[in-house]
Amino acid sequence: MAVRVDLNISLDGFATTTDQTLEDPMGRDWSRLVAAYVATRTFRARVLHDASGEGTTGVDDEYAKAYFEEIGAEIMGAGMFGLHNYPHDPDWRGWWGDEPPFRCPVFVLTHARRPSLEMSGGTTFHFLSATPQEALERAIDAAGGKDVRIGGGATVVRDFLKAGLVDQLHVAIAPILLGRGIRLWDGLWELESGYAVKAECAPSGTIHLTFRR
Ligand SMILES: NC(=O)c1ccc[n+]([C@@H]2O[C@H](COP(=O)([O-])OP(=O)(O)OC[C@H]3O[C@@H](n4cnc5c(N)ncnc54)[C@H](OP(=O)(O)O)[C@@H]3O)[C@@H](O)[C@H]2O)c1
Repeated sequence: MAVRVDLNISLDGFATTTDQTLEDPMGRDWSRLVAAYVATRTFRARVLHDASGEGTTGVDDEYAKAYFEEIGAEIMGAGMFGLHNYPHDPDWRGWWGDEPPFRCPVFVLTHARRPSLEMSGGTTFHFLSATPQEALERAIDAAGGKDVRIGGGATVVRDFLKAGLVDQLHVAIAPILLGRGIRLWDGLWELESGYAVKAECAPSGTIHLTFRR
């Protein structure tokens, strides 16, 4: 099994802005950052439950398909799950509706205590406060021999990269500048050593860069 990351970042390295508000919970630039991924046929079917078959095919879609393959468990941060947007809502169940796209156990790192949430389609959210190593051990146990994805957000992915726990890092670099936010690469000097690197460019202008141990 492998520990994998797939993240959309801007040309200047930001994985998220920090301008989210209750009125605009994704922030002003989210749709620019993820435009090519959201346009794929795979994203539309798997995340938006769009059965029309519409959406882009080709390089971006190949990466989107690979994103969902062979993942047995996922780890994400409280920010990605939405707990920072809705910290006082005990009924918050994430952004993804009743049938989230993960279809596996998802471990949400948070200092808030919340009961596990069983959703339709095989996703169960578990909430835990643990070191990256401890969380990964739980996820590996739950993954049944399949891969574990560190889904995001920016801070949690950086923590796992810093701890040397990631076997495969795929960044989809969107041809946009965000100019502010949380930068994936900060504090990761010489991260590239120890990884083989592959680059592929999609017609959307997205550069898919994969670091593999
Ligand atoms: N670009 C992409 O592909 C991509 C992918 C996913 C998400 N995102 C974006 O990233 C943003 C969220 O990222 P983020 O950096 O703000 O937050 P995040 O990485 O999702 O979560 C960080 C938070 O998780 C909790 N946490 C982290 N490590 C922990 C530990 N060891 N034990 C207990 N709790 C722990 C803490 O929250 P508490 O202390 O409050 O519990 C911490 O503030 C969102 O805007 C999302 O849309 C981007």
